Amino acid sequence: MEYRHLGKTGIRISELSFGSWVTFHNQADVKAAVEMMSAAYDVGVNFFDNAEVYASGKSEEVMGAALKQLGWRRGSYLISTKFYWGIHDNVNEKNTLNRKRLIEGINGSLQRLQLEYVDLIYCHRPDKTTPIEETVWAMHNIIEWGKAFYWGTSEWSAAEIVSAIEIAERHHLHKPVTEQPVYNLFSRQHFTKEYERVYKDYGYGTTIWSPLASGLLTGKYSQGIPADSRGALKGYDWLHDQLTDNQKLAKVQALEPIAKDLGCTLSQLGLAWCLKNPFVSTVITGASRVEQIHENMKATEVAPKLTPEILEQIDNIFEVKKEEDED
Ligand SMILES: NC(=O)c1ccc[n+]([C@@H]2O[C@H](COP(=O)([O-])OP(=O)(O)OC[C@H]3O[C@@H](n4cnc5c(N)ncnc54)[C@H](OP(=O)(O)O)[C@@H]3O)[C@@H](O)[C@H]2O)c1
Repeated sequence: MEYRHLGKTGIRISELSFGSWVTFHNQADVKAAVEMMSAAYDVGVNFFDNAEVYASGKSEEVMGAALKQLGWRRGSYLISTKFYWGIHDNVNEKNTLNRKRLIEGINGSLQRLQLEYVDLIYCHRPDKTTPIEETVWAMHNIIEWGKAFYWGTSEWSAAEIVSAIEIAERHHLHKPVTEQPVYNLFSRQHFTKEYERVYKDYGYGTTIWSPLASGLLTGKYSQGIPADSRGALKGYDWLHDQLTDNQKLAKVQALEPIAKDLGCTLSQLGLAWCLKNPFVSTVITGASRVEQIHENMKATEVAPKLTPEILEQIDNIFEVKKEEDED
């Protein structure tokens, strides 16, 4: 496992990390979480991603209980959580980044995670109604109180990120240091176009999500939706169109000969492709069972085999023209 600096911070993060969205509480109990986190940690993963909204707080509870059982030295790993949607359907408590909510949010997350602090907190989405200045101050205060060390954004626009950075600089506050955007073979335009300025001008980090497009890039959806997959879970029907899209499935199928030549699986190829982007600080992987972790972590061995020629072949399958990607 290699470690990359998280943007311009001094902290180094494993190039592959592990997140708990969908899985913890819904598909994985504490025992399974211990098993999966252990398998990741044993090969060098040092970052575990979470959010208060995942399973309405239950995902943090599962991770907290798992960490307690695992008993790792606190300095050896990084934990994150995120705020925006909230877990209470009430005015001031949902879809917001107001000061009161963020501070109540971190206190709740720390309780559920059974931790004194998390390493990284994210604003899970931008809030168009709270002044960015109020959010920047609240994130700064949480860090000053020792409840977190760094903060970041998720799916903010470049303009919103730059505005937050400039407010922080003006008032000598802790700046956001990383974005958490979607990035995979199907969803790359936003990452490459929207954020280029913030990587280049501000050295912003990126902890990217859904690297396998919720499992579509594993090839498992080629014959329909398997009963034991995310696509079959109650409440995830909104994923069906994407997971059964024939054009997308044909592209995944076209990757098969490339994976075969490289001697790897489609999952490993999809993750390795994300690793090749130097602006990616870490690829947050997801898994519902430990076998997937064992398979996915080997993507670090595949990434060095992706030559410019192979990357071009992949671009051709996804119909990405070079100048389009670089525009
Ligand atoms: N900031 C945000 O807005 C945001 C949004 C989404 C996610 N995230 C973060 O990013 C993390 C990763 O996202 P993701 O879970 O969507 O990642 P993903 O890699 O796109 O999908 C992971 C899912 O694909 C399936 N899978 C993975 N490896 C497999 C393998 N080798 N063979 C077969 N199936 C495999 C598993 O689902 P099944 O086995 O159930 O089919 C697994 O849970 C999340 O946990 C979360 O921490 C952040």
